[in-house]
Amino acid sequence: MDPASIDARREAVAAQLTARNQTHVLRWWDELTSAQRLQLLADLGSIPWDTVDPLIDSHVRNAPTRRLPSGLTPPAVYPHETDPGERREYAEAIEQGRNQLRDGKVAAFTVAGGQGTRLGFDGPKGAVAVTPVGDRTLFELFAGMVKAARGRSEAAIPWYIMTSPGNHDDTEAFLTGHSFFGLPEADVRLFSQGMLPAFDAQGRLLLVEKHRVALAPDGHGGSLKALCTSGALADMQRRGITTISYFQVDNPLVKPFDPLFIGLHTSAGSDMSTKVAAKADDLEAVGNLCMQDGKLGVVEYSEFPEQFARARNDDGSRKFDAGNLAIHLLDVAFVERIVGVSFELPFRRAEKKVTHIDEQGASVEPETPNAIKLETFVFDALPLANNPLVLEVDRSEEFSPVKNATGTDSLDTSKRDQMLRACRWLDSAEVPVPRKPDGSPDVTITIAPSFALDADEVRLKRDQIGPIRAGDAVSID
Ligand code: UTP
Repeated sequence: MDPASIDARREAVAAQLTARNQTHVLRWWDELTSAQRLQLLADLGSIPWDTVDPLIDSHVRNAPTRRLPSGLTPPAVYPHETDPGERREYAEAIEQGRNQLRDGKVAAFTVAGGQGTRLGFDGPKGAVAVTPVGDRTLFELFAGMVKAARGRSEAAIPWYIMTSPGNHDDTEAFLTGHSFFGLPEADVRLFSQGMLPAFDAQGRLLLVEKHRVALAPDGHGGSLKALCTSGALADMQRRGITTISYFQVDNPLVKPFDPLFIGLHTSAGSDMSTKVAAKADDLEAVGNLCMQDGKLGVVEYSEFPEQFARARNDDGSRKFDAGNLAIHLLDVAFVERIVGVSFELPFRRAEKKVTHIDEQGASVEPETPNAIKLETFVFDALPLANNPLVLEVDRSEEFSPVKNATGTDSLDTSKRDQMLRACRWLDSAEVPVPRKPDGSPDVTITIAPSFALDADEVRLKRDQIGPIRAGDAVSID
């Protein structure tokens, strides 16, 4: 682009910035190269000011006044432990779910646009090796699940992956470099979510470099809009997909093709369904599924009044015990209905540490949160859904995310949980698993999705499993 047109673009952007008291971001303009100027203009031009303008006052300079949850009641939950009546209903739902899969009505959808700052892995989180044996990455595991489900259902189940501009190219290169782990390229579709600027407490834009605005992905709630704007939703409609199986990139235990969940969701005519697990303790840092004003929603733990968190039923059980696992089914028609041109889920304010440059241009690595990010959360679509459904699952079977470098929800705890689940599946198939005197497995085991997606499949294939000796590291493929 010639210098005159760069200057013309600068004038237009400067006018926008002047109106908003944000011209400080052009401070280093004179020392930038042409390429850097174009980059800065691109960053600034990507800011959706119509969305952002009102939020600077309501969410950045001030913390939004959220209505204190009142009148909360626990939601109706399809239980994990069933009585005979429920068992019949579940058996019918499983059949219906299998039919949905066979009819090619279900797509897998991984949200992988997050920055993964807590884990601190250099690359997309999906490229982290997570299995106890064989160092399979999260993307390889999910691809294996999709492949296995395609084989079982004989349907061309597509897999959609949402990235963000910061990890899109690396994600694409990783999947291409691994030939999409054997899936047809046409059935794996990547698209990027939107970004929003991070601000200082006064509502001023931050720069990460002299020519780069601090931008961050707009939250997993941005997935609904991105499904639409990327054309993924239209692609689903073209393929006859009706149900989107939504899951996060960080959970290797997820079961995206659970016929029970799919069948219950379909037979209830639910727009959006969610899996929950009993909370580990009253104050566990997990969102709480609740009814409020007749609508299902999630109240974050930080906003959940302690008297509710500690409330008990007459039998002593926890009253609010439906912890959000971020595993959802969404109807394509529902997403299409709610994602209008100006659609936004409610914005949430997050105080985060954001590396930036100071007024002298020196890089600052903050030790405490210094910036406000704006995000929407996918579970905020639940109150908009008709007939939303909640299914309780056994956490140890379906949820063990990799979020942190150490401690809870880390690679170590996730590998342990994958191992324990594999051993339970083998136990249920009566395949002997060597144990230590304390009862813990004396082996390291991975059961690949190509071999089994659940305990039932292990039982069916038990004759294909060779003897497992103490101390072995076994990958059952
Ligand atoms: P997390 O809330 O765990 O955030 O995302 P994160 O960005 O991955 O990690 P931290 O907080 O920086 O350590 C939960 C899921 O939502 C996706 C993530 O990729 C993950 O699968 N996500 C999150 C997005 O796709 N986009 C976002 O803007 C935020």
